[in-house]
Amino acid sequence: MKIAVYPGSFDPLTNGHLDIITRSSKLFDKVLVTVLTNSTKQPLFSVEERLDLIRRTTKHLKNVEVESFSGLLVNFAKEKNCNVLIKGLRVVSDFEYEFQMALANKSQMPELETLFLPSAQEYMFLSSSIVKELARYHGDLTGLVPPEIEQDIRNKF
Ligand SMILES: Nc1ncnc2c1ncn2[C@@H]1O[C@H](COP(=O)(O)OP(=O)(O)OP(=O)(O)O)[C@@H](O)[C@H]1O
Ligand SMILES: [Mg+2]
Repeated sequence: MKIAVYPGSFDPLTNGHLDIITRSSKLFDKVLVTVLTNSTKQPLFSVEERLDLIRRTTKHLKNVEVESFSGLLVNFAKEKNCNVLIKGLRVVSDFEYEFQMALANKSQMPELETLFLPSAQEYMFLSSSIVKELARYHGDLTGLVPPEIEQDIRNKF
């Protein structure tokens, strides 16, 4: 069984994330969306809230599972018998950091491959930070986040 891990902070999930999850689910037998909790950034949504938002919006994708993990991603991958990491690339500036991370992860686990999926054109500018900024000032979130979680995001502000 071919398993891929798609890691991120997902604070909160956006349509850009959902697009990468949907496309990955067609390429692999199983996709493990992994909420990483060791970020230095102070999150807006708790881990449980983030898991819930992702689960609600991916429940139609039967081969997608959602979990959280704290620690080195390579350890999670090993634990799950997975050797593919999925990363979304929006702009060139994503590339430099992600390329460094891919090499760093490979140094820890040589059989681990990082697979880059290009962002869909309509989500190239989209990030969780942009969504939070828009929500804070009552901006229009239509098309940027899944409709079923828009209210959850608005309720935070
Ligand atoms: N709009 C998007 N299109 C494609 N990939 C994306 C998009 N937004 C995020 N990703 C990818 O999803 C993964 C997880 O991203 P992450 O949780 O850091 O979200 P983010 O939107 O960049 O959040 P933040 O604003 O907090 O940095 C990364 O591989 C990232 O490149
Ligand atoms: Mg980011």
